[in-house]
Amino acid sequence: MGNDLTLAGRRALVTGGTQGIGKAVVARLREAGAAVLTTARMAPADLIDPALFVAADVSTTEGCARVAETLNSRLGGADIVVHVVGGSSAPAGGFAVLDDEQWQRALDQNLLAAVRLDRALLPAMLRQGSGVIIHVTSIQARLPLPEATIAYAAAKAALSNYSKALAKEVSPKGVRVMRVSPGWVETEAAVRLVAELAEKAGVDQATARQGLMDSLGGIPIGRPAKPAEVAELVAFLASPAAASITGAEYVIDGGTTPTV
Ligand SMILES: NC(=O)c1ccc[n+]([C@@H]2O[C@H](COP(=O)([O-])OP(=O)(O)OC[C@H]3O[C@@H](n4cnc5c(N)ncnc54)[C@H](OP(=O)(O)O)[C@@H]3O)[C@@H](O)[C@H]2O)c1
Repeated sequence: MGNDLTLAGRRALVTGGTQGIGKAVVARLREAGAAVLTTARMAPADLIDPALFVAADVSTTEGCARVAETLNSRLGGADIVVHVVGGSSAPAGGFAVLDDEQWQRALDQNLLAAVRLDRALLPAMLRQGSGVIIHVTSIQARLPLPEATIAYAAAKAALSNYSKALAKEVSPKGVRVMRVSPGWVETEAAVRLVAELAEKAGVDQATARQGLMDSLGGIPIGRPAKPAEVAELVAFLASPAAASITGAEYVIDGGTTPTV
């Protein structure tokens, strides 16, 4: 590993780091030498170092405050913050079933968690004159899908807009702010979803997996991305090798997005 890619001595916070993309990011940042504190609502069964985990729901104000306090007391602050938490649990049924509660949940989980944690952690980064913030958005910020994920996609678009504005404000003071926007990533949850879809439709899993790719308009590389591939991109952007990158969005979707 070249010196510019090492994260030795860096303190990192990764939200949602016990499964999927977040778990891969935690592993990759640790491999690069960073001390990584992570958070999720539930402690994983295979938790190796409890001192580097805090149970908190970052979709709430209190949860964000707990994460920021724990980070400050255990690591003395953060040099790198990777906001991975996000997702949608909205029911199918289109706009009509997305009531205020569903919209608020989508905004709390996908936008306000990042806004609140950044607000708590940025002052120290600005004082030290350096830092890296990475917001994990989604290609749905530009390529919304109808029905269940309307609110999720709108919240991710807001996160993307906020991220760019923040980059303009804090980059001159030494803090880089970037977006990583995945297309379909084959996490453990995605594998379970494919199995469920296959069972419901009475088809094999390869057919269900292809059906999911087709519903996105196809994936030119012929497969979803792997969590480790997203983590590799995050680790690069967090490293000194990416020192002149800020305010930018990196799409990692195997070519799914059909426009320039
Ligand atoms: N997978 C994809 O295809 C895909 C595509 C585009 C964008 N993304 C984005 O990538 C990010 C990660 O997605 P993923 O699919 O890797 O997720 P995932 O496999 O469902 O994992 C989510 C992680 O976040 C934690 N988490 C969820 N809600 C939380 C909350 N309110 N507070 C604290 N922790 C919470 C979960 O642990 P607990 O359940 O214990 O809290 C878990 O560790 C999300 O922002 C998602 O929108 C994913």
